[in-house]
Amino acid sequence: MTSDDRVVDLPDTIDPQNIPNHVAIIMDGNGRWATERGLPRREGHRQGVETVRETVRNCNALRIKVLTLFAFSTENWQRPDWEVSYLMSLPEKYFESELPELIQKNVQVRMIGDRKKLPRRVLKVIDEGAAATKSNSGMILNFALNYGSRAEILLAVNHLVSEAAAGKAMRRVTEKKLSSYLYTAALPDPDLLIRTSGEQRISNFLLWQLAYSELYFTEVYWPDFDKTELLRAVTVYQRRKRRFGGV
Ligand code: IPE
Ligand code: IPE
Ligand code: MG
Repeated sequence: MTSDDRVVDLPDTIDPQNIPNHVAIIMDGNGRWATERGLPRREGHRQGVETVRETVRNCNALRIKVLTLFAFSTENWQRPDWEVSYLMSLPEKYFESELPELIQKNVQVRMIGDRKKLPRRVLKVIDEGAAATKSNSGMILNFALNYGSRAEILLAVNHLVSEAAAGKAMRRVTEKKLSSYLYTAALPDPDLLIRTSGEQRISNFLLWQLAYSELYFTEVYWPDFDKTELLRAVTVYQRRKRRFGGV
């Protein structure tokens, strides 16, 4: 199947002409989902991977062009060791079962975030996924791993400072120039940000890139975020009037 044969079974509430190009998701609430069921937090993360599988399929079917998933933040290292290592085992688990389908569905895998602290085996599966899909022209599936927006902006600023020190910099830094040094350089800004679990904060995610994104918060925990919830978010997005500072 190529991207052109993507099956779209849309309800009437969705306008196929107004699908957000780039959807970014803060996948939150795995721990609370598990705790409320008397299960260990780990079970919430395990179920969260199932939701990732389904969400990737559904976003692809909707012809969303870029899906960015916040999987691990620069602050998440503060969690207990067992939880960090469990979370770090999930990319392997995901790609092991999904890579053939991603290849077949013309999805292109990418990653944003600081590679330095990430375990070698995580980088290995991500790099293998990216390499195996790099010529794919369908949906971009972008995992934010060890990602922090302030760190990303600082990295860009430090690049610019080094260029200036080397006498290479222009007199004034433009938005375009700074954007070109962010991890997201090649990507459009998100049109829609979704955060699950009822928290209404950005938690150091894409601070620069979300300048004009539509924000959608839902009480639903990530493991329960199904196709109906995704379509609900897109429906709400389509009812919004984006003005970008105009009238
Ligand atoms: C999201 O769920 C997963 C990550 C942040 C990695 P949480 O683990 O944050 O779940 P809650 O917020 O504690 O319920
Ligand atoms: C944000 O969730 C990070 C990810 C979803 C990967 P957190 O659970 O870490 O955010 P806070 O701590 O509630 O702000
Ligand atoms: Mg959380």
